Amino acid sequence: MTDHPGQGAALDNLLDESRTFPPSQEFAAHANATAETYARANADREAFWADQAQMLHWDTAWDQVLDWSDAPFARWFAGGDLNVAYNCVDRHVAAGNGDRVAIHWEGEPGDSRAITYAELQREVCRTANALSSLGLAKGDRVAIYMQMIPETVFTMLACARLGLPHSVVFAGFSSEALRSRIDDAQARVVVTADGQFRRGSVAPLKPAVDEAVAQAPSVEHVVVVRRGGNEVAWNTGTDVWWHDIVERQSDQHTAEPMDSEHPLFILYTSGTTGKPKGILHTSGGYLTQVAYTHRTVFDLKPESDVYWCTADIGWVTGHSYIVYGPLANGATQVVYEGTPNTPHQGRHWEIVQKYGVTVYYTAPTLVRTFMKWGGDIPASYDLSSLRVLGTVGEPINPEAWMWFRDRIGGGRTPVVDTWWQTETGAIMISPLPGVTHTKPGSAQRPLPGISARVVDDNGAEVGRGEGGYLVLDEPWPAMLRGIWGDDERYRKTYWSTFADRGFYFAGDGAKYDEDADIWLLGRVDDVMNVSGHRISTTEVESALVSHRDVAEAAVVGASDSVTGQGIVAFVILNGDAAGDGDSGSAALADLRDHVASEIGPIAKPRQIMVVPELPKTRSGKIMRRLLRDVAEDREVGDVSTLADSSVMELISSGLRTGA
Ligand code: WTA
Repeated sequence: MTDHPGQGAALDNLLDESRTFPPSQEFAAHANATAETYARANADREAFWADQAQMLHWDTAWDQVLDWSDAPFARWFAGGDLNVAYNCVDRHVAAGNGDRVAIHWEGEPGDSRAITYAELQREVCRTANALSSLGLAKGDRVAIYMQMIPETVFTMLACARLGLPHSVVFAGFSSEALRSRIDDAQARVVVTADGQFRRGSVAPLKPAVDEAVAQAPSVEHVVVVRRGGNEVAWNTGTDVWWHDIVERQSDQHTAEPMDSEHPLFILYTSGTTGKPKGILHTSGGYLTQVAYTHRTVFDLKPESDVYWCTADIGWVTGHSYIVYGPLANGATQVVYEGTPNTPHQGRHWEIVQKYGVTVYYTAPTLVRTFMKWGGDIPASYDLSSLRVLGTVGEPINPEAWMWFRDRIGGGRTPVVDTWWQTETGAIMISPLPGVTHTKPGSAQRPLPGISARVVDDNGAEVGRGEGGYLVLDEPWPAMLRGIWGDDERYRKTYWSTFADRGFYFAGDGAKYDEDADIWLLGRVDDVMNVSGHRISTTEVESALVSHRDVAEAAVVGASDSVTGQGIVAFVILNGDAAGDGDSGSAALADLRDHVASEIGPIAKPRQIMVVPELPKTRSGKIMRRLLRDVAEDREVGDVSTLADSSVMELISSGLRTGA
C-alpha cells in the first residue's frame, strides 16, 4: 500500500496495544449473542441468515435465501415479500406493544415529545396517505432534506410503506449538492423544513431547496414542515405545508407487501471521482441484517433498554441504526435534534441521565471532542444506566477508547468498535459485547454470518502481524445492490480490483494482529474521513477550481487530533489574484466559503495554502503524499519521482496560508 495517510502513526500506536477487556460474567450470561452464534453461522451461513430473516414478518416466504447467479448483483430472500414499514411499526402494535415508547425525541431548544409505537403507526399512515395524495406511486423517488425531527422518521417510513425509494440528503449539504442528488435520482417530491435549530439559532433550510428545485425539473411538489418558524419564500405551484397536507389525512393505511428486492433507499456517498455515488439498498436483506446487528452488537433488550445513536439521519448510520434497525427490533430510543454543546457541553450526559440511556452509539471524533472538553463534565451526571458503548465512522485511537470506557462507561461497559460502510448497509466487523475480549482500537472480528479478510495486492491473505487491504469475500444480506443508474461504475469501483477472486474491495487498509484480530487503518483511496464524514479529495478540488481565482488545486487529508483528518488545500491562484498582496487572507476566506456553498460547510478546508507549483510525477499525477508531508509539518519524503524535484522547496519556502 502506498501513499496512505497516517498509516505509519496508526501502526506504531497499535503495535503497543495489548490490553484486553473480557465481558463480565453477568453480561455474558444474559447476552443475545454467544460463542455458539459464531459456530452456527460457520456451520451454514445461508441457514443462519434465513434464521435471522425469520425474525421479521414476511407476507410471502422466499424461495431462495441467496441468488448470486448474476454476481455482483445479489438477490437475498428471493421470491419473498414483506413491507419494511409494517415490520418497523405495525408489527409491534399488533403484538401488544403499542404503548411502548418508540422515540423519545429531544429538541435542541429543550422541547420534547414521546412517541409510542401506536402513535408512530398513526403518523406514518397519515404521512403515507399524504404522499399518495400527491400522486406518488410505487417506485417513485422522494428526496428528504431535513434535520433530526420526528417528521423525518415518519417520512422515511411512509416512503418505505409505499415502496417509494427515499434519498435523504444531509441538511448540511449545499443547494448545489442537493440539486445534483435530486437530479440523479429524478425525485418527484422533496420533503424539507422551513429551518433547523443549530447552536441556539435557526438556520434556514428552505432557501437551499428553492434554489435546487428551480433547476431540478423532476420535482413536482415540496412539502415543508414548520419547525424553525422562520420566514420562507413560497412557490404556490409546488409548495405545500406539512400541517396542511398531512394532518387532515386518515390515520389508517394498509401496507402493501413488497418484493424482498424492492429498492428501499438511495444514499449518496463520496467516491474517488467528483461525482457522488447513489448507493442503492433494497428491502428484505437490508432489514434482516440491520435488525440482526442491532440486536447482537448492542445486545438490545427491547423491553428494558433505552438506546441512543447520535448520528444524523442524513448518513447511513442514521438510516440503519436510528430508523430501520432499532424500529425493526421494537426498541425505545432517544432522537436528539441538536449539537452536543447546546446550550452547554454536558448536553449529551444530561440526556443520558434524563432518559436512563443504556446503549450509546457515537463517533470517535465526538469522543475526542468530549475528552477535550474535559472529564469533569460527564462526571457531574449520573451515567450509571449505560451498559454498552459503541463507535463508528473511523478508527478509534486507543486513548479515546479507554477514555470512553472509563469516563463514560464507568470502567464497566463493553465498547464495540463497529466497522462498516454506506455500501455494506449494516455493521460487518465488530466485537460482540457478551463474547469478545475487547481491545482498545480494534474492530476485531467479522460478525457471525460475515466473512472478511486482509489481503495483499494479489488477493492472497496476509499473515498475522501483517497489513494489506480489507476485502469481503462472501456476499451479505445488506450489501448494496448497485450504484443508482450506473452498473458499470458499481462493478469497477468495488469488484474489479480483485475480479479473479470475486472479492468486494472496501477501500480500507487493515492489518491482522498476532491473534488474527483486524485493525482498520483508514482509506487507501482519495477519500478523506473528516469527523467520520466521507469527502473525496477530487470533490473539494473541483469545487476550488470552479472559483475564478483558482488555476489549480490539490487537496489532502492531514491527520487531526479531533476530527481524524482535516482538509488541507494547496492552490495555485490565477495571475491577477496571485498578485493581490493585502487582500490575500480575504481571498482565502472567500475560497473556503466557496467550497462550503458548492458542497457544504463540512467540506470547508481547514487550511488553504497558496503555492506557485504542485508536485507532479512525469505523467502529471499530483503526488499527494508529499503535500501531506507539508500539511502534517513533516520532513518531505522521497521526491525522486517528481518531474521537477525543486518544486517542493519552492512550495515550502513560499507558503502563504489561511486557516
Ligand atoms: C471508515 C459509515 C475504522 C472506513 C458507517 C469506511 C471506519 C468508511 C470504521 C465508511 C471503524 C467506518 N474503524 N474505520 N469502526 N467505521 N470507518 O460510508 O474508512 O460514511 O470505509 O459509513 O468509514 O464511511 P461511511
